[in-house]
Amino acid sequence: MRTSGHMLEEVHLALRDFIKPGISTLEIDEFGEKEIRRLGGIPNFLNYNGYPGSICVSINEEVVHGIPKKNKIVKEGDIVSLDAGLIWKGWHSDAARTWIVGETDEAVKKLVEDTRMSFFEGIRYARAGHRLYEISAAIGQYAIDRGYGVVEDLCGHGIGTSLHESPQIPNFRQRGRGMRLVPGMTLAIEPMINLGTARVDWMADGWTVKTADRKPSAHYENTVLITEGDPELLTCTGEEERELIRSMRP
Ligand code: MF3
Ligand code: CO
Repeated sequence: MRTSGHMLEEVHLALRDFIKPGISTLEIDEFGEKEIRRLGGIPNFLNYNGYPGSICVSINEEVVHGIPKKNKIVKEGDIVSLDAGLIWKGWHSDAARTWIVGETDEAVKKLVEDTRMSFFEGIRYARAGHRLYEISAAIGQYAIDRGYGVVEDLCGHGIGTSLHESPQIPNFRQRGRGMRLVPGMTLAIEPMINLGTARVDWMADGWTVKTADRKPSAHYENTVLITEGDPELLTCTGEEERELIRSMRP
């Protein structure tokens, strides 16, 4: 799973450099699929419950699961959430990033940064001996404190030999404490945070989820390994993130 995750991180870094105003969301998908295969992976989203792409491309008010389209063009000022996953030797990885294309409002920039930070607030508790819903509550509280809407209709999940395994990992406070975390667990933790209302609409294409008020939404996700010590991000090996985790020990 570490290798699978590291491959996926590479895909995301290539995608980051690829997106620019004028390209279509289908071009993003095709580029991402090519990268996944070039590295020796298999796209796990492709044909998942009939999903037609390898990358979910969700722009601005789209929360998740945007379907790549030839006539949907990225423009300056957009925030583009890219959710990608792959299988390597049977092991799944799943990660999402939200990229800002050029310049955008201060509030939207902050939404993107705060969404990423809510993930790190959550994984403070992604440690042996802590409980699953400590992660959920920490993500939700961080977002609510800043006035955002926390999407409740979708959540994170266990991951391993399948893309979606138990447990479900909500991004908001739960009753009870949830399961005890033990080393070796692998979790896809993925806050979806809205600038306005938490409510979402499901589009008639069967996939795309949008904010009910059509204000922007951001998404950040990594596949996380529970260890004896600090959580290990299998899909993000940056020293900055490692230091962030170290500096945020509970
Ligand atoms: N990464 C998504 C998730 O777990 C999975 C997308 S499945 C797809 O949230 F079919 F939409 F690709
Ligand atoms: Co996921």
